[in-house]
Amino acid sequence: MKQSSECVVIKGVGSYVPERVLTNDDLSTMMDTSDEWIRTRTGIRERRIAADYEATSDLCARAAQLALEDAKIGAADIDLIILGTLSPDMLIPATAMFVQRKLGMEGIPCFDFGAACSGFQYGLEIARTMLLSPQYKNILLICGDKLSSIIDWQDRSTCILFADGAGAVVLSREPAGQPGVIDVLLGSNGEHSDILNIPAGGSREPASERTIRERKHYLRMDGREVFRLAVQKMGESMGKILERNNLTINEISHVVTHQANVRIMHAIAERLRIPMEKVCITLDKFGNTSASSIILAIDHHRRQGIISPGELILTGGFGAGLTWGAAIIRL
Ligand SMILES: CC(C)(COP(=O)(O)OP(=O)(O)OC[C@H]1O[C@@H](n2cnc3c(N)ncnc32)[C@H](O)[C@@H]1OP(=O)(O)O)[C@@H](O)C(=O)NCCC(=O)NCCS
Repeated sequence: MKQSSECVVIKGVGSYVPERVLTNDDLSTMMDTSDEWIRTRTGIRERRIAADYEATSDLCARAAQLALEDAKIGAADIDLIILGTLSPDMLIPATAMFVQRKLGMEGIPCFDFGAACSGFQYGLEIARTMLLSPQYKNILLICGDKLSSIIDWQDRSTCILFADGAGAVVLSREPAGQPGVIDVLLGSNGEHSDILNIPAGGSREPASERTIRERKHYLRMDGREVFRLAVQKMGESMGKILERNNLTINEISHVVTHQANVRIMHAIAERLRIPMEKVCITLDKFGNTSASSIILAIDHHRRQGIISPGELILTGGFGAGLTWGAAIIRL
């Protein structure tokens, strides 16, 4: 892409959540917790949980189909699929392969990437830079997770947070001067890899009777430390991206952060002096769906007419790694 004569446009957005609703009251019948505790500590009221027969690729394919419809583009016009997930259908092959098959898009390249809950920003940057190549014109970026399959339902400090869902966007190279991806800023620090991880099932500790007995195939988290670093790193990256684009928060119409905890959103808003009316929240209905949460929030608010075409949106994400990122986009 020639820097000044072309740009990356978000042609379509789609999202999907499973039908089954799991409320805080439902959870309180399963473990020692309460609606009051979950609501006041996290902002979550209910979340969606996929059916046993639904895998991550099923959720992703539904979201992708809706994004293609929204973009008014046929599957045959997509040149590449990239998919961010931390709960793949299988370890091999990539979940993107299953989505490709479901959508009948055989032949084009596709791959998964692992940036956990910062997947939307990482995916935007991968797509944006790949669209520099004349080989790609339309890229399907999908983020999706069936987190209910990797959380420990005996750990009340994590299982109340996470949920299932998928989001997709179609990104296209177009002549400059149209709304689209304005800037993306990424960061990470592997020194924090121990505060949010799944210890076993990989090459470090292959699956064994012992690892299963020790519940090491489930997600583990130091909630307080993740909270602290999320506010710090996401806040820094969102502030930096505004600064390097000579923008103030007054010029931003909507702020869409990773939907992890409403208290994190309040802390970011306070730090960057963002009025809470500008902050899009879907966490109360959908919980933390990892990388898809930002796409879900954008799609939900757009379909309700709260986000209008052409408005400037600031996004911020953070996740296991620790990874973080921010992006400025116009739909
Ligand atoms: C997980 C999180 C909600 C916990 O909130 P917190 O205010 O830090 O709570 P604490 O972990 O300090 O626990 C406080 C008490 O509540 C208890 N508790 C934990 N989960 C509970 C639950 N579901 N219901 C009731 N009590 C619970 C703890 O056992 C603890 O009890 P104790 O004081 O007797 O030991 C919060 O730390 C958080 O959201 N962190 C960020 C996580 C995140 O965003 N992860 C996603 C990354 S992509």
